[in-house]
Amino acid sequence: MSSPRKLIIAIDGPAGAGKSTTARLVAQRLGYVYVDTGAMYRALTLAALRRGVPLEEEPLAELARQVRIELRPSADGQRTLLDGEDVSDAIRLPEVTQAVSRVSAFPAVRRILVEKQRELGKDGGVVMDGRDIGTVVFPHADVKVFLTASLEQRARRRARELRQQGVQVAEHEVARELALRDRLDSERSDSPLRPAPDAVVIDTSELSIEEQTERVLALVYERQRCNRAQG
Ligand code: DC
Repeated sequence: MSSPRKLIIAIDGPAGAGKSTTARLVAQRLGYVYVDTGAMYRALTLAALRRGVPLEEEPLAELARQVRIELRPSADGQRTLLDGEDVSDAIRLPEVTQAVSRVSAFPAVRRILVEKQRELGKDGGVVMDGRDIGTVVFPHADVKVFLTASLEQRARRRARELRQQGVQVAEHEVARELALRDRLDSERSDSPLRPAPDAVVIDTSELSIEEQTERVLALVYERQRCNRAQG
């Protein structure tokens, strides 16, 4: 039997819904490449903060054209390189997290990064996580999932993750930051965070990571079965 065509799997949703862990595990199970598109917006934000570039549309778009942002698959999912430097940890700094929603709201910035994302996924065999993958980057993705969870649950998970990295945070602070990002990401006029009409919405509030992964994989296998049946 010939091996199935390599699919494009889009995983969107708000911060803290479990997208990155789920997408990484799904990619591992399928032997696909995991692409975290948020890391691109974060790398550009880091470059702007380091160089003192004003967080305005034209200077940021110019910077996006100048810098080289690379996403490299690695054993732990993905490493992010900015002009050859590994910035995978630096892009998670609180200053970056606070500024990234502003940076990613500018249409001229999005156009440049979306083009790079399309290039990365064009041959399939990718699980791409973001906010607009199923709506804008790959509106014809083979499988579209929108992961969501209650704000409390997302804040609890994010706070636990941060504590594991040695950062002590109060859960209500994390909840406030997530709520603000949700609002900025959902209310922007270009590519706001929302499920594609044909996305399968999965509420992960009561699900374990394994269960989330299995649900997404079930959708992928179903899609592969349909593709086989259609020849
Ligand atoms: O997934 P994340 O928290 O690393 O994403 C960082 C920010 O980047 C998020 O607040 C919104 C933005 N983003 C986006 O606008 N479009 C994407 N495809 C991915 C992320």
